[in-house]
Amino acid sequence: MGKAKLNNPFTTVGYYGSEYFCDREEETDQLVTNIQNGNSTTLIAVRRIGKTGLIHHVFAQLPLNWKGIYVDILATENLNEFLNLLATAIIRDVPEKSSLGKRFWEFIKSLRPVISFDPMSGEPQASFNVKRSDAELNIASVLKFIDLQDFKTVIAIDEFQQILNYPEKNTDAWLRTIIQQMKNVVFVFSGSRQHLMSDMFSLPNRPFFRSTQMLPLKKISADIYADFVMRKFKDHSKVIDIELVYEILHWSNLHTYYVQLIFNRLFSASGKHVTAEIWKEQAMKLLAEQEIVFIGYRNMLTNPQWQLLKAIAQDEQVYMPTAKDFINKHNLGSPATVLRSLKSLQNYELVYSDFDTNAQNYYTVYDILFSRWCSERGIG
Ligand SMILES: Nc1ncnc2c1ncn2[C@@H]1O[C@H](COP(=O)(O)OP(=O)(O)OP(=O)(O)O)[C@@H](O)[C@H]1O
Ligand SMILES: [Mg+2]
Repeated sequence: MGKAKLNNPFTTVGYYGSEYFCDREEETDQLVTNIQNGNSTTLIAVRRIGKTGLIHHVFAQLPLNWKGIYVDILATENLNEFLNLLATAIIRDVPEKSSLGKRFWEFIKSLRPVISFDPMSGEPQASFNVKRSDAELNIASVLKFIDLQDFKTVIAIDEFQQILNYPEKNTDAWLRTIIQQMKNVVFVFSGSRQHLMSDMFSLPNRPFFRSTQMLPLKKISADIYADFVMRKFKDHSKVIDIELVYEILHWSNLHTYYVQLIFNRLFSASGKHVTAEIWKEQAMKLLAEQEIVFIGYRNMLTNPQWQLLKAIAQDEQVYMPTAKDFINKHNLGSPATVLRSLKSLQNYELVYSDFDTNAQNYYTVYDILFSRWCSERGIG
């Protein structure tokens, strides 16, 4: 993506090029290697850690004879909408007037979609309104058409677990069959619902079982992130203490989006010298702004769910949520209640489970700002 230089080196939405992208060197190499060797990849990680960013980063450095097509299917609810997105992604990527564009547009038009232009961005969009069998046929022919081109293509399907919510049965089996026949296309399947994703690719009775290389995406290491942050401030002739950088990285739990967000604020609020006072002030401001979101959680949840969310936020990493100690400390009722609430909180994507460096499973809240807000307010 050729974008203009930004005033603030810490981006919080989208991908603006390698200059603004921290690390991910190993993961990028791994993905590029998989692609060049014709292997599809499954990218699984918690929300806001940088899956989508990594896909765009890899797309920006694909070998010359490769083309990347990206679709985020989170908002789709059925195969017809999936088809619309796929067709739209293809015509958006190539201008109608180019020779390749001509071929693509003619092909897509031959499937008889309604082609319109987004009133805001002016970008083209294709929409079909067809029954299941036609949606399947059209998706299959779009994919086959791509496969027949004289270049290679990577199709990244982001939030892939969403196909499990489609009303059409066995979408994954059907899709897997088509994909298996393709010679010129590799896939990147990415998703944040870790259980759904890993079940789809690692259970023997599932169609996608072992069909891809798994690439888990972890947090960026503190040393590498600190180095990136220091460099970015220095590039803009700003001075920040390395200890302060580490303190902030710790405060943001090294969770990519939150790290970016807080440094974005700090960068814009500070003059030449970035002081601890400015940092504290910005952190408090951020928490105050988010308060309405946190109150929203409370209104959305039952009381036991809310109590459990606060308890996990307060303890940060909870290894045994049904243990007596934890339940008594936070007054959470019975283990059965805790288990039920835990499941709901995971479904709402407020809590997730992860493994520590000793491969021990623990639960933690997604939103580190919520944890910080609870401890600032003495809530918990
Ligand atoms: N390596 C990186 N360096 C700098 N910023 C990054 C990096 N990775 C991600 N970001 C920033 O963090 C934000 C969140 O990342 P991204 O959207 O890629 O996460 P995600 O895992 O796809 O999240 P979700 O599951 O919510 O879709 C992005 O908007 C981007 O600005
Ligand atoms: Mg994403």
